[in-house]
Amino acid sequence: MRFLSPSILSSDFTDLKSQIRFLELGNSDWIHLDIMDGNFVPNITFGPVLVDAINKMTELPLDTHLMISKPDDFIESFVNAGSDILTVHQEAVIHLHRTITKIKSFGIKAGVSINPSTPVYSIQDILGEIDLVLIMSVNPGFGGQKFILNSLKKIEELRNLREKFNQKFLIEVDGGIDLNNISSVLDAGADVVVAGASIFKSKNPVQTVTELKNIILKYSNERG
Ligand code: DX5
Ligand code: ZN
Repeated sequence: MRFLSPSILSSDFTDLKSQIRFLELGNSDWIHLDIMDGNFVPNITFGPVLVDAINKMTELPLDTHLMISKPDDFIESFVNAGSDILTVHQEAVIHLHRTITKIKSFGIKAGVSINPSTPVYSIQDILGEIDLVLIMSVNPGFGGQKFILNSLKKIEELRNLREKFNQKFLIEVDGGIDLNNISSVLDAGADVVVAGASIFKSKNPVQTVTELKNIILKYSNERG
């Protein structure tokens, strides 16, 4: 199974209900929520209050990406707000095993993300404990940036490691993905694809979600 997880970061926040409806109409699998604190990344977005509101607007699973310095202090709030997956950054956490254990203790899925400059081997010892790895293919902080090509090698490296150690985590890729490069991301081994600006800055977001989703479905039908 492969999944599309659109990020609402570049959507029209004055009309969030219809933006989420666009995702549902396009058969989106998850919704990707980018939480930024102005400390770990040079931007501030939103917190648990908005996640809770979004949770009340949709049945789609909430894929919450914490780009914040002290995620441990906020895990419970984001769980209570309705997150189905909570992903923290390797670079933001000192005791990663403890953080992952805490997230899983609430019965939701736990993910770890790495920045473009962070090597895959830095998370090797935690791979057996987590549900998802989020490879950043842009420097976190803003939507609409250009995909960093070196990310493809990291996706392949991670896929090979997963096979070698017979592990089960999903590989999610986030940043700069559009209709032109989604196939190369899938080819490299992505199971979950995030897309923000390419959906919400397009003329017809429903159509773009549908097209991205169809590429994922076609790929899965052909390659299993
Ligand atoms: C970047 C965020 C991404 C980003 C995705 O800091 O984590 O989720 O908003 O959006 P696009 O697809 O616009 O790069
Ligand atoms: Zn993200």
